[in-house]
Amino acid sequence: MHFSDRANEYSARVESTLDLWIPANSVEPESLHRALRYAVFNGGKRIRPLLTYAAAEAIETAAEDVDPMAAAVELIHCYSLVHDDLPAMDDDDLRRGKPTLHKAFDEATAILAGDALLTLAFEGMGRADAPAAAIVELARAAGSSGMVGGQAIDLAFEATRPTRDSLEAMFRKKTGALIRAAVVMPAAHRRPDDPVRQALVDYSEAIGLAFQIVDDLLDIEGSTEEIGKPAGSDRDNDKATWPALFGVDTARGHAGELIAAAWTALERLPGSTDGLRWLGERIVRRTS
Ligand code: IPE
Ligand code: IPE
Ligand code: MG
Ligand code: MG
Ligand code: MG
Repeated sequence: MHFSDRANEYSARVESTLDLWIPANSVEPESLHRALRYAVFNGGKRIRPLLTYAAAEAIETAAEDVDPMAAAVELIHCYSLVHDDLPAMDDDDLRRGKPTLHKAFDEATAILAGDALLTLAFEGMGRADAPAAAIVELARAAGSSGMVGGQAIDLAFEATRPTRDSLEAMFRKKTGALIRAAVVMPAAHRRPDDPVRQALVDYSEAIGLAFQIVDDLLDIEGSTEEIGKPAGSDRDNDKATWPALFGVDTARGHAGELIAAAWTALERLPGSTDGLRWLGERIVRRTS
């Protein structure tokens, strides 16, 4: 069976965990719970949970052991998008082809929905008895040394021209950290110098950087309809992006180099790496 078939099964698993974890629309306060569901069930690609299931396959771990990790990383990702779109940050009106949460509801609800999604991720992992090491991995990736820190640097870089190293360091935090956690959580209980864990780290760091470079390219080359978010938003915000600083062709080339580096890391994994390969290809070839 090809991984694309298993991807449907894995997507269904994460949808059902998320549905179980997020309070129903009828639970008080109703409009906040409607907002949580609006932020999560709106056509995201679910790349991070799929990476968690694919990493589990690569280390011969059962899907049920990583269900809470897959749901938790997607909740944190969804929260990061809600806050990223706020007027104080990227000020965007469209996300996943629909009005952003602060447009469909209001700014206070968007802030609170983000807070609730972040908290729910850790409540869900704790209740499911996820390994403490995986919880720590995700918390570090989400916080000020990871995604939140990267978002702060991204805003500070507006209207500046950082070096390639500084730009990559920002990408590693704002986008790479959650992608790395998605891949490494299934192996988080292993020692830091464990070669299998290290292979997952190497793979995830390469695809994490490639992911943001392609996202920056799509902002320039994609249409609003295709990407489901306002094309040209980075230019409007004078963002420091890979293609803006170093050119579109260099960006494409570099994404390709990073993916090639990711493939060599896969050779060091004991289980099936079909999923990690399929997702890596999807990350560079995607049009949304
Ligand atoms: C968008 O992530 C935000 C970035 C980190 C660049 P995705 O492209 O995975 O967004 P969804 O979840 O599919 O909407
Ligand atoms: C944001 O990067 C990554 C996050 C941590 C949310 P972008 O600002 O480029 O993401 P998009 O393009 O709005 O999805
Ligand atoms: Mg942003
Ligand atoms: Mg944005
Ligand atoms: Mg972007």
